[in-house]
Amino acid sequence: MTAGVDLGVPATQAISSDEDVVRVRQLVRTTAVAARLSLVDQTKLVTAASELARNTLIYGGGGSAEVTTVEDGRRRGVRIVFADQGPGIPNLDEAFTDGFTTGGGLGLGLSGARRLVDDFDIWTAVGEGTRITVTKWSR
Ligand SMILES: Nc1ncnc2c1ncn2[C@@H]1O[C@H](COP(=O)(O)OP(=O)(O)O)[C@@H](O)[C@H]1O
Ligand SMILES: [Mg+2]
Repeated sequence: MTAGVDLGVPATQAISSDEDVVRVRQLVRTTAVAARLSLVDQTKLVTAASELARNTLIYGGGGSAEVTTVEDGRRRGVRIVFADQGPGIPNLDEAFTDGFTTGGGLGLGLSGARRLVDDFDIWTAVGEGTRITVTKWSR
């Protein structure tokens, strides 16, 4: 088994290139398989992670993704924390509106990612950065 996917042991992937976004996808897939998420849930989480990693790269100016297997007593899941020290998001309502983009994208990344996971938490501060935590639980 790949190091860092054991229960409770976080694996951190730096995000500073397109290749790193691919690495985040691979790490999330491996961790989701180890946590016994269903194939559908694996794919939902990988898709969300891909969007959030790309935002970290493009808008956050790079950062990191920390992937951890978590347990709440009844369920096992995979948690990912995306962190950057970029410009932050001045208006969250706007940023989560389908179709809103400041970068010529489709504007569906944040809203789509939130729908694809079970838990979604965002902290952001203008001039400080953005930190998004998502969790997908096994059923
Ligand atoms: N990590 C981030 N740092 C700063 N701004 C962000 C970040 N992630 C998202 N945003 C802002 O939120 C907007 C919406 O993001 P998203 O829904 O993924 O759409 P898109 O990537 O197509 O623009 C982005 O255009 C950007 O303005
Ligand atoms: Mg996006």
